[in-house]
Amino acid sequence: MHGVCTAQAHANIALVKYWGKRSPDELNLPAAGSISLTVDRLITTTTVRFACANGKKGDALAGGGRNQDHNRDSFFLDGAEQHGERLAKIRRFLDLVRARAGLDTPATVESTNSFPTASGLASSASAFAALALAASSAAGLRLSSAELSVLARRGSGSAARSVLGGFVEMLKGERADGTDARATQLLSEDAWDVRLVVAIVGHGGTKDTPSTQGMRHTAMTSPLFEGWLASVATDLDAARQAIHRRQLSVLGEIAERSALTMHASALAARPGIVYFRGATIEAVHAVRLLRRGGVEAYFTVDAGPHVKVLCEPGAASKVVETLGAIPGVGRVLECRPGGGVRLLDESNTSTNTSTKNGPVGSA
Ligand code: PMV
Repeated sequence: MHGVCTAQAHANIALVKYWGKRSPDELNLPAAGSISLTVDRLITTTTVRFACANGKKGDALAGGGRNQDHNRDSFFLDGAEQHGERLAKIRRFLDLVRARAGLDTPATVESTNSFPTASGLASSASAFAALALAASSAAGLRLSSAELSVLARRGSGSAARSVLGGFVEMLKGERADGTDARATQLLSEDAWDVRLVVAIVGHGGTKDTPSTQGMRHTAMTSPLFEGWLASVATDLDAARQAIHRRQLSVLGEIAERSALTMHASALAARPGIVYFRGATIEAVHAVRLLRRGGVEAYFTVDAGPHVKVLCEPGAASKVVETLGAIPGVGRVLECRPGGGVRLLDESNTSTNTSTKNGPVGSA
């Protein structure tokens, strides 16, 4: 067992969205599949340190009963100690790893994001992919990328996809235990050069509805939820084919309709969930205007106001300039396809899951 491990993962942006679960929340089983692109510039780096290397369950029991030290887990995000629900979520995730490894010791988790956490960008995908690899490796487990994806899913559905690089499909799976609800790679990060431009739409005031809450509320109250779910299978088939054929315009049209159909279902919930801000809508129109002028660019929007635009490499600077000029848009980041989760060792060399099918990392 290593005791301490550091892992790095990239966020991913869904092109065919995941919105709805097929099970109670703890298993995080999706009601449908999804397809995403892992991106290079949105990075989470996480170190997990278990308190003592010899804290096997047996030792704790021999010491006079089950050790409840998990309550002493600590979590630091961008240097600030976290409490409340954020810490509780990390603790529940560590419990899964401890149970699997037969460990009973507390851990310290230190995480940093390469992008502003408070910006509301989807950080849970990179966060739980990095945590899954760092924690399982530190606990002495050697998981395959499929097992890691299943584990990461328990933290956040989209995290299952960030285990792999490039274009990734999340399989809905059929089993009740979720062992087949995992990600699979469609194209590696170096197989198709595209750009994903992320426009951060700044807004003060009200916080967005968290995705799990938004999905539950949509499923329970939206008359459009069934229609949304029924649309996903066709989009998955068409997107998979477009990715294999590297047809950006086909994939882009699917990404736009998937995002709009997902948002339509959320908007129609009672009461409706509105993730868009003014600048979101302006950006959507600006992308369509660019397209009418011959620029191959297609938008998508997640459970927040930010706009992500899929485009050809040659179109990226025009897209960055156009989005940056919209009032209410803050930073604009041009991303490329990124790799899968990897372990960092002291010399910063690593093993990348996207190029391997076997066990991940070097634990
Ligand atoms: O994985 P979660 O619970 O953060 O949900 C992700 C939901 C969306 O970002 C809106 C869509 C997706 O597929 O990533």
